[in-house]
Amino acid sequence: MANHKEGLIELAKKKTEHFSAEVKSDPYRLAFHLMPPVGLLNDPNGLVYFKGQYHVFFQWNPFDTAHGAKFWGHYTSPDLLNWKEEVPALAPEEWYDRNGCYSGSAAVSDEKLYLFYTGNVKSEDGTRESHQCLAVSDDGIHFEKYGPVLEVPPGYTTHFRDPKVWREGERWYMVVGAQTAEEKGAAVLFASDDLYHWDLAGPIAGAGMNGLGEFGYMWECPDFIRLNGRELLLVSPQGLEAQGHLYNNIFQSGYFAGTLDYDKARFQHGPFIELDRGFDFYAPQTFRDPKGRTILFGWMGITDEAEASQPTVKSHWVHALTIPRELKEKDGRILQIPPEELEGLRRNRRECGQIALSAFKGGLEEAVSRESEIMLDSIESGRKGFEIHFRDEAVLQYDPEAESIRLVRRNWKTDKPETRVCMLNQGLNRLRIYMDTSSLEIFVNDGEEVFTSRFFPSPEAGTIRLIGDAAFTLSIWDLGLTL
Ligand code: FRU
Repeated sequence: MANHKEGLIELAKKKTEHFSAEVKSDPYRLAFHLMPPVGLLNDPNGLVYFKGQYHVFFQWNPFDTAHGAKFWGHYTSPDLLNWKEEVPALAPEEWYDRNGCYSGSAAVSDEKLYLFYTGNVKSEDGTRESHQCLAVSDDGIHFEKYGPVLEVPPGYTTHFRDPKVWREGERWYMVVGAQTAEEKGAAVLFASDDLYHWDLAGPIAGAGMNGLGEFGYMWECPDFIRLNGRELLLVSPQGLEAQGHLYNNIFQSGYFAGTLDYDKARFQHGPFIELDRGFDFYAPQTFRDPKGRTILFGWMGITDEAEASQPTVKSHWVHALTIPRELKEKDGRILQIPPEELEGLRRNRRECGQIALSAFKGGLEEAVSRESEIMLDSIESGRKGFEIHFRDEAVLQYDPEAESIRLVRRNWKTDKPETRVCMLNQGLNRLRIYMDTSSLEIFVNDGEEVFTSRFFPSPEAGTIRLIGDAAFTLSIWDLGLTL
């Protein structure tokens, strides 16, 4: 089997080399985000700090810009800023994962790195198998597959995947994304003493449980964290109906705050809160770093009908991860904040000082780099609010009367504008915007809300325009790494 793996990895390497020049010369290639070297990237996987390095693995199809038999691609970093591409950690070469080494997580024990992932197997007749598998490494780079450690328990379909493992007290726990036999989404808990043998504890949350009504037909990519004494279940449900400004993407990602009784496998929780308000955010995962921070990466994309038409597809790559975000908790809500390390991307600070815009006349146009951080602080908005136009391709609008903030962008498939809106309870004080060549991550106030979206401006469009009725201080940094 080792030969087969070498074979697939060798083929992936050849594919990367073959398209390397085209991929790198794409004007939409990002400057400070993790991307696939070629092909399609989706979920972040196996996030961990191990033996002095941050590790980010990711779902990767090296052979096509569509979904398929996934590998685990791999990046490492000493500082969350400078990343190195490593050899792929997992390739879909065994009987139990031959149609994809699907999403999963990492755990560290006895100086070893353990990866848990879903072995996806599809038969000719369309039936599916799902095996929760383990691979182990001493150095964090080369993994030996141990094979399945857990099979789908009775009462669930084979849409059973994305194990997330953590330690609590003396035991290991795993939560798996599931679909019940009644086709309801759920998150299922398992427990283990040694990482190899797992016992079913039971479903801890799901559609129709814990006071939740209809809540989707499948829950993907669960994660369980403790933040500031609160327990939070993150999950990506599929099949929610849009409700006003909520659940507007095809699939959602969010969390429930509550309390988990590990022995009884009961999680009492509050309402589902969406993690992101933009167009392109899915399947986030978190990890605890040595500084005690909980850090999240998400997939800056989503499986929808527009992904195949992304302009980067013709350069043989598609999608990226978000920047890392440090999570904080306040009153049962998650705040997302760019970690301080990202200040290391800043070059050439431009202090534009105190700006006063009035009555949507004139406005302010600033030449910016395609990779910029834009910070508006001490915002005092007049009644009519204000807008920020990004490179003639996307607009952020604040309406203080409606207490709403909205992002409008051109849809690259339909060419029509589309909108995402969120309501703010306590006005707008600060905006911190990470703009990359073809992405926007907009942090509202102190990370209370985030809008994550791709956008594809004309490479020549080089300015931002602020217009409206507001006063604020404005700072802009060019972003980049001097490697
Ligand atoms: C989420 C997801 C996971 C699965 C992986 C396959 O985007 O569908 O549930 O493990 O992607 O690439």
